[in-house]
This record gives sequence, C-alpha cells and structure tokens, in this order.
Amino acid sequence: MFSSSVLLLGVVSISFLAIYKLIIYPAFLSPLAKVPNAHWSSPIAPIWILWTRYNDLENRVLHAAHLKHGTVVRLAPNELSINDLAGLRTVYAGGFEKGEWYSIFDNYGVPCMFSSWHSRTHSARKRMISNIYSKSNIHNSPALAAQAQAILYDRLLPKLTSASGPQSHPNGVDVHDIWNATTMDFITAYIFGLKNASNFLAEEVYRKHWFGLYHARKVYTFFPQELPHLTVFFKKLHLHLVPTWVNDANRELEVWTQERCHSTSAYIKNGLAAKDNDPANVPVVFQAMLAGIEKEERMKGAESVLKNETLQYPELSIASEMIDHIAAGHETSGITLTYLSWELSKNIPLQDALRAELLSLSPNMSLSGSGSSKSIPSSKDLNILPLLHAILMETLRLHAAIPGNQPRMTPYPSCTLGPYTDIPGGVRIGSHAHVLHRNSEVYLDPDKFDHVRWLDDQNGYTEEQRRERDRWFWAFSSGGRMCVGSNFAMHEIKLTVAAVYANFRTHIVDDEGIEQTDGYTCGPTSNKLFLRFEKVVD
Ligand code: HEM
Ligand SMILES: *[C@@H]1O[C@H](CO)[C@@H](O)[C@H](O)[C@H]1NC(C)=O
Ligand SMILES: *[C@@H]1O[C@H](CO)[C@@H](O)[C@H](O)[C@H]1NC(C)=O
Ligand SMILES: *[C@@H]1O[C@H](CO)[C@@H](O)[C@H](O)[C@H]1NC(C)=O
Ligand SMILES: *[C@@H]1O[C@H](CO)[C@@H](O)[C@H](O)[C@H]1NC(C)=O
Repeated sequence: MFSSSVLLLGVVSISFLAIYKLIIYPAFLSPLAKVPNAHWSSPIAPIWILWTRYNDLENRVLHAAHLKHGTVVRLAPNELSINDLAGLRTVYAGGFEKGEWYSIFDNYGVPCMFSSWHSRTHSARKRMISNIYSKSNIHNSPALAAQAQAILYDRLLPKLTSASGPQSHPNGVDVHDIWNATTMDFITAYIFGLKNASNFLAEEVYRKHWFGLYHARKVYTFFPQELPHLTVFFKKLHLHLVPTWVNDANRELEVWTQERCHSTSAYIKNGLAAKDNDPANVPVVFQAMLAGIEKEERMKGAESVLKNETLQYPELSIASEMIDHIAAGHETSGITLTYLSWELSKNIPLQDALRAELLSLSPNMSLSGSGSSKSIPSSKDLNILPLLHAILMETLRLHAAIPGNQPRMTPYPSCTLGPYTDIPGGVRIGSHAHVLHRNSEVYLDPDKFDHVRWLDDQNGYTEEQRRERDRWFWAFSSGGRMCVGSNFAMHEIKLTVAAVYANFRTHIVDDEGIEQTDGYTCGPTSNKLFLRFEKVVD
C-alpha cells in the first residue's frame, strides 16, 4: 500500500517535471516564449524546422513566416530567425560566434577560418590572409592581372569564339559549367599561381569529374549539420546517414588540393619562386598563409590560440584553408555569373547598353580593338562603370548565391534582441539574404530584376532610400565573419563580364530549371543553362 503510493507519487512528479520542462517552460515561461512562433510546434520541438530544411523549403517558408509574424521569429525551442537591420547589427556586427553547424567545413579534420567556432581563433587565422583579399590589393595585384589575362584571353575567349562560329553546337553552351571552370581557374591561380592552378577551361573531362565530386559533398549535408549527434550515433552502429562514397569524394578533393600545396611549397622553398619573373606564377594566398603561420609561431609561439591546431599541423591547416577558398570561391561566383548572363540574355537592349559601356574602357577588351593585344583595363576604371556595377549588384540581390541561413549562437549569459530581453546563451540564431533582399519597402517589386535600383542618376532615390538599399544588401553577409573574398569575387566577375560582353551577344537556348534551389549555397535547380554566343562585329 505504502510503496504503491510512493510509486504513484514518483510517477506523477516525474511526469509533471517532464511536462514542465518540455512544454510549460519552453512554451510559456522561457524568455523565448514571447517571440512569435513560426509554427505551433516550434516551442516544444524542432521537428517542424528540421522537416522544412530536409525538404529544401527553408528560405521561402521563413520568408513567409517573417511576413506574417515580424522580424524576429522562433523556429524551434532553441532557435530564432531574425531578419531586419537591428538583428544584423546585434548578431553579425555584434560578433555572435559560430557553432557546430560549420564543422562540416573542416577539412583534413582541422579547422579553417570559415569553420572556426570562436572569435579568437577566427581572428588569428583571418589576420594571416585578409590583407591579400583587401580591395586595394585585389585591384593592384600584378599577379591577379597577369592571371586574369591568361585565363580570359588564352582560355575563355578562344573557347567562346569557337562556340560562336559556324561549327557551333545547335544547343549552345552550358554556361554554368563554363563559368564554374572560369572561377575555379581564377581562384586556384590566385592561391597557387598559374603554374599550379587548375586549367578547367581546357580540361573538360576532368573538370566534370571534379564538379561531380564536389556536388556529392553538397547533397549530404543535412544530417551532419542539423543532427550531428544522431549522425555520429548511427555511424557507431555502422548505419551511414551519409553514404561512405561521399567521404571518398571528399578525400579525392583533399588529395588534389594537397598535391598543389606540396608543389607550391617546394616551388617556394627550393628558391624557384625567387627566380621566376612571371607575375602570374606568384602563389599569393598560399604565400600569405605560410608567412602568417611563421609569424604567429615567432611572435606568439606557445601563447598562440592556434597552438593546438594551426601551429601543430601547419601543412594540413594550410591545405584546409586553401580547399575552403577554392570551395567558397568557385561555386558562388559561378552561380552569380550564370544568373547574370541569364538576365542579360533575356534583355538584348540592356546587353547592348552594357557593351557600349564596356567598349568605352580604354583599353577595352574587344578582340577587334585593344583586346587584340590582350589588354586588361585598369581596375579603377572597371570598378566605376555604373551599368556593369548595377547589373552585378542586382544579380547578387535577386539571386544571392548564398541565400540561406547563416547560423550564429547567442552569447553567455544572455543578450537582448530588439524588444526581447534575457535571451539565454547558446540559442541558435540566423538571418537569410533571401529574406532580407525581398523587403518590399526597400526593394520595390522585389521579385523583379531591376538594375536601375543601383543607378543613382536614374532611380530618383533620396539619400535615405539609397542608404537603406545598401544597408539591406547582404549577399556577402556582414560583420567580422563576412565574406573575405568579396572584393576578389566582384573583380573577377566584372573582368569576366567585360571580356565576354565586349565581344559577344548571348541568347537563351535552354533555361529550363533555372529557378534557384532552396538551401544554403544555391544554383539553378537543373544545374545548367544553355546559351548561344553570337560574335559581335563592331
Ligand atoms: C559572388 C561570390 C560570393 C558570394 C555571394 C559569397 C558569399 C559569402 C557569404 C554570405 C559568406 C558568409 C557565410 C556564413 O557566414 O555562413 C562568405 C564567407 C566567406 N567567403 Fe565568400 N562569397 C563569394 C565569393 C568568395 C570568394 C571568391 C572567396 C575566395 C576566397 C570567398 C571566401 C570566403 C571565405 C573564406 C569566407 C569565410 C570568412 C570568415 O569566416 O571570416 N568567397 N561568403
Ligand atoms: C558547378 O559547380 C558546382 C560546385 O562545384 C557543382 O555542384 C555543379 O555541379 C557545377 N555545375 C556544372 C554544370 O558544372
Ligand atoms: C606545379 O608546378 C610545377 C612547375 O611548373 C610542376 O613541376 C608541378 O608538376 C606542378 N604540380 C601540380 C600538382 O600541378
Ligand atoms: C592545448 O592543449 C593542452 C593539452 O591538451 C591544453 O592544456 C591547452 O589548454 C590547450 N591550449 C589551447 C590554447 O587551446
Ligand atoms: C576599343 O579600343 C581600341 C583601342 O584602344 C579603339 O581603337 C576602339 O575604338 C575601342 N572600341 C570602341 C568601340 O570604342
């Protein structure tokens, strides 16, 4: 009698505790309870947001949720989404740290700048390389200019010239593949120097193999990113939520990168670099990282926050950094070029206006003009062309290559987000370029491609409207973890567009499936875009 009532009491109190902890507290008493819920189940379980992500619907579903519920929305018991300027300031400019979500971007089992969780290790890594990606360095680098000249004049333009000739293929050219190859050649050249870079524009068979391997790594990110503990648990039971061949694909990309690192390292250490007079062969990024590690070792040594990682495994850490720049650098810029050339192909008068602007460069890149001597225009002149800039900005707004969630963690012990106080530490929180770029008060008719938004002598905007337009633009993120390659990307894309559109008109042959996928980094659903190139004779 006695024991059964104790048992009953125990069961009742445990159930009450469980109900309190799992339902009452998170749904009604937690400081997060005041935040509007994206879904009725959000305060008690993350199932709804996991399901939304699993089905690749996050960006559009959260766009709708923010329209309905405002700028701060609760997605799960321990997760918020925030999509306004105050939120960007608090979270991104405020230095909220990254979390485990980014660990899949570790390579060779060691972190890179992008995958670092904490600000201190991140800053120590960033110090080594941010300078060579600064705008003034990108615009004045003799290495990058020489590399651009070789890639554009010796590889890309001859290829497009033959694709525009009488023997050209009736289906046109898959430009998504070509732009991928162009941006790979660009970023690997800046990292390793031209001699140890990829030559994907020439090596069609190998590049398709390589992009295929990279694709594999992209498709299976859901489980390790969203359910890391479950993924590890299943792995221990020999149940693979990520097929084992994905690991093999990753391994092959890692080995490919290491071979280039080894060659580049030998080239520097054997003194060959010092004797090489060709600026195109300078391995700018690799060299900066090597020097950065030596400096960290010399100045901080055992005191360094990187002592247990980068300084202990310098070779793997350099390779981890390089493969990350290759990954971050080629796909995003390739996607941007694809959407830019698609938008231009839908609007021939705009192309012609752009061409007139490009030919006004001196030297221009027309093969029948100064381009015949393979001239690269000055970075300064290229950068201030208003129409080229407007078209690129509008492409980055409407088709941001990373439209998806960039999760951060709230700091301990607590923080304030707009009207919500006492938000505890360790809550996942993120914003989306997809949502920010569709604010119809800032970008009127946001689904329309309208480059005039960025042409200040034509749009009639007030000073305040311009400022708002620029503040909400988030294609490269913001704060300390914003894209380190943004100046590189803007420059390589402008150079490529200047070379291509000075010489060709493009027309759509097949754009089926051009809609962007929904996720983190997003290209066309069909993974292709076929355009026809028409040589322009001026
Ligand atoms: C149009 C092209 C590009 C776009 C739209 C883009 C966008 C972004 C965004 C949104 C982030 C922040 C991601 C996050 O925190 O989750 C980022 C970070 C980064 N990007 Fe880019 N990117 C582009 C090109 C490049 C290029 C060419 C490089 C070459 C080095 C690069 C290297 C990086 C790196 C290393 C980071 C991590 C920075 C850090 O953690 O400090 N990106 N990029
Ligand atoms: C372009 O590059 C991305 C990233 O490597 C890859 O996933 C995609 O399959 C490539 N697409 C084409 C058509 O080359
Ligand atoms: C790097 O360049 C050197 C010098 O041209 C060459 O001997 C070596 O094979 C290259 N290595 C790779 C992996 O491209
Ligand atoms: C490095 O590792 C040692 C031993 O594991 C640990 O005591 C030390 O705190 C670590 N240092 C840093 C900077 O992480
Ligand atoms: C392109 O540059 C060349 C040489 O600088 C010049 O002769 C030509 O007229 C320019 N093309 C146009 C259309 O301005």
